[in-house]
Amino acid sequence: MKGVILHGGSGTRLKPLTYSGPKQLIPVGNKPVSEYVLEDLVVCGVTDVAIILGETYPELVRQYYGDGSKFGVKITYLLQGKPMGIAHAVGICKDFVGRDEFVVYLGDNLLQRGISEYVSEFRKAKYEAMVLLKEVDDPTRYGVAQFDGSKRLIRLIEKPKHPPSHDAVVGVYLLRSSIFDSISSLKPSWRGELEITDAIQGLIDRGLPVGYSRVEGWWFDTGKKDDILAVNALILDEKCGYELEAETVESKVEGRVQAKKGTKIINSTVRGPVAIAEDCIIQNSFVGPHTSIGRSSSVIDSNVEHCVLMEGVRIEGVERLEDSLVGKNSKVIQSGRKGHSLQLHVGDFSEVVL
Ligand code: DAU
Repeated sequence: MKGVILHGGSGTRLKPLTYSGPKQLIPVGNKPVSEYVLEDLVVCGVTDVAIILGETYPELVRQYYGDGSKFGVKITYLLQGKPMGIAHAVGICKDFVGRDEFVVYLGDNLLQRGISEYVSEFRKAKYEAMVLLKEVDDPTRYGVAQFDGSKRLIRLIEKPKHPPSHDAVVGVYLLRSSIFDSISSLKPSWRGELEITDAIQGLIDRGLPVGYSRVEGWWFDTGKKDDILAVNALILDEKCGYELEAETVESKVEGRVQAKKGTKIINSTVRGPVAIAEDCIIQNSFVGPHTSIGRSSSVIDSNVEHCVLMEGVRIEGVERLEDSLVGKNSKVIQSGRKGHSLQLHVGDFSEVVL
């Protein structure tokens, strides 16, 4: 089985972070979202992986994953460029896939329990395609499944105004080469994209066996800031162990704290689950649960909780920073001058909540 990770798209809802990098590289628990995706593929024994690149700094993706050997896989990069739809992205994998079965995994999706049980089911049942479904409150944001009286999947509809069920299509698709015929006859949808839901519908319409499985455990499509913070918290809850390589001076480190080497924690309290990468300085500060801090960042005279700070961030003199996502090399600094006006240097599409 081969693997395809979608790393393109526009990331509109995550501006301004997506001006300087693809959304799939935004870290949770100090690791890009798409690295968890790659790990899920490796667990299933998939070692031949194509990464589909978009227009937003594709070189950062190549730089991070290289030839894949660091991750135990062989990576082929395919350039999609403009986001013309998930089915369009899958279509450009035709030569890479050949006659194999393959799994397409959206690089911004995360599943608590990975995908191995679904891969086994797909292989056993010999489906032509298989989708994963999860019940959601607002199905209008997703592809949605419709069933007949005997629970057979009869339709997949992309972002319906009047959803026939609450079963959203998760961003993992198990496919065979028959999908390429379906893709070649697709027309762009109302949003101007070639939809993977329409391509799979093509298989259903041809009477081919299309299966589904319901996802156990949590699933996130990390399209917005609050999704990133929620997934970061869940990942830290579940995967962060106690691993203190940092130097600590007159500090309290409580619970599951991962602090990498080169980091100094001085006169501070860090209460896990927290992940702090290499070469950070935490000084006269409190770092509370569900916080990830990227490498070469500093938190000085501040209280930080339930935050994702990417690398090179500087937080100084901030009484309470919560529920925040701070991009690479950004600074949040209190000037210390009482009654002084705010002085901002904020990029397009930023958000400052005071
Ligand atoms: O997350 C699940 C949902 O993903 C499904 O329920 C929908 O049926 C499916 O269409 C998709 O909906 P989204 O509107 O959330 O897709 P989005 O545009 O966010 O793209 C999903 C991922 O695929 C994201 O990592 C970017 C990547 N992508 C997207 C497009 C449109 C590409 O690499 N190329 C593309 O052309």
